[in-house]
Amino acid sequence: MKLWGARFTKEASKKLNDFNSSIQVDCRMYKQDIKGSIAHVTMLAKQDIIPEEDAKTIVEALQDIEKDIDEGTLMIDPEAEDIHMFIEQVLTQRTGDVGKKLHTGRSRNDQVALDFRLYTMDRLDDLTTLVKELILTLCKQAEKHTETIMPGYTHLQRAQPITFAHHLLAYVEMLTRDLQRFAFAKEQANVSPLGSGALATTTYPIDRAYSAKLLGMKDISLNSLDGVSDRDFAIDAANAVATCMMHLSRFSEEIVLWSSWEFKFIELDDAFATGSSIMPQKKNPDICELIRGKTGRTYGNLMNLLTMMKGLALAYNKDMQEDKEALFDSLDTLEVCLETVIPMVDTMQVLKENMRSAAAKGFINATDCADYLTKKGMPFRDAYGVIGKLVQQAITSNKVLEELHLEEFQEVSELFEEDIYEAISLDTCVNKRSVVGGPAPAATKAHIALVVQELGDQ
Ligand code: ARG
Repeated sequence: MKLWGARFTKEASKKLNDFNSSIQVDCRMYKQDIKGSIAHVTMLAKQDIIPEEDAKTIVEALQDIEKDIDEGTLMIDPEAEDIHMFIEQVLTQRTGDVGKKLHTGRSRNDQVALDFRLYTMDRLDDLTTLVKELILTLCKQAEKHTETIMPGYTHLQRAQPITFAHHLLAYVEMLTRDLQRFAFAKEQANVSPLGSGALATTTYPIDRAYSAKLLGMKDISLNSLDGVSDRDFAIDAANAVATCMMHLSRFSEEIVLWSSWEFKFIELDDAFATGSSIMPQKKNPDICELIRGKTGRTYGNLMNLLTMMKGLALAYNKDMQEDKEALFDSLDTLEVCLETVIPMVDTMQVLKENMRSAAAKGFINATDCADYLTKKGMPFRDAYGVIGKLVQQAITSNKVLEELHLEEFQEVSELFEEDIYEAISLDTCVNKRSVVGGPAPAATKAHIALVVQELGDQ
């Protein structure tokens, strides 16, 4: 018989049961469910709503249940309606009438909202740790390549020279913002809805602040309808995950390009690449392609949550049971992607020579050549026109700028002198861009030091 079966005259149909049950999804919240129940029952005893000895019996039984599930001696019943019902049923089997007191002044509506918040907070902590690890791994690679010159691109056309460190540090910045988004989502989740009851609180003299304090939660919700029907924190978490996946997908795309024969800027470690069943020569960046592909499902999950909540009348509606599957999938997806991408980045080989020779082609120093004339007094727009002409001539004679004779430079402007070669060398182009955020080794080294120190301080 169902715990809620008293007003029914028939057994629930198997079809209803299977359709209604969420245990396959929410069973992973058993620890949070037990933690929440322990806080609730401790509060009930403090408020003299149930006897102290009963609370003690319930707490001990809940701790045993957790241990038994951990150790696999208590199997979660796939026929149960959800994890909340399952644990209460086992508790009642084990403690009899005492266990039946646990749910006093509580509803599954505030219970599930609490569990989901606690679970989301725990997982955001795990993801935060992993993102920090990825940031440090990128910094480690960047440290080795502050002087590794490569082409920087716009429109995927060679644009200006940068360094590999500079490029990696762009991702460090994105991931640092991701950490802020995780922290924000966690703060949103860190509000206890416990005590909201089904929708309108309870007539028992509960102490909501006390149970929240026992749970280590920062705040309590201030409206019980909102307490049971708010899933904004889940949307915030799904958004943080989707954005982080978007960043990983951009990085993945670049690894795919860089590991191609056309670029050959990096070589993935054999342990982090795959082969082909027919083409013996192939070495494929499957990890990156999968990350790129899996980004879509995290966008889908975010859209799923937003759509699920759209137009939902207050307060709890069963639609909201769908929230967990969507967010769990996002959390799992990002976690596995991070766990895989970290060692891949750590072990990849950087082919410096290829990066440098790519940077040496494609007139990547044309801006610097125009700046040279500007520094000698020519207005920039005029200098731009002069260098444009020079580039056109060089392309016709199949040369790059630094291969032109001084006379050829001087034909287009008398301002050119012998020092032009030094001014447009790749090293000069990079080293002179030493303002904050630039590719010069001094700037990137300072950036790395700052990031490493900030992560160390957290
Ligand atoms: N399994 C449900 C969920 O995840 C628990 C809350 C059920 N509440 C209810 N009134 N039926 O949303």
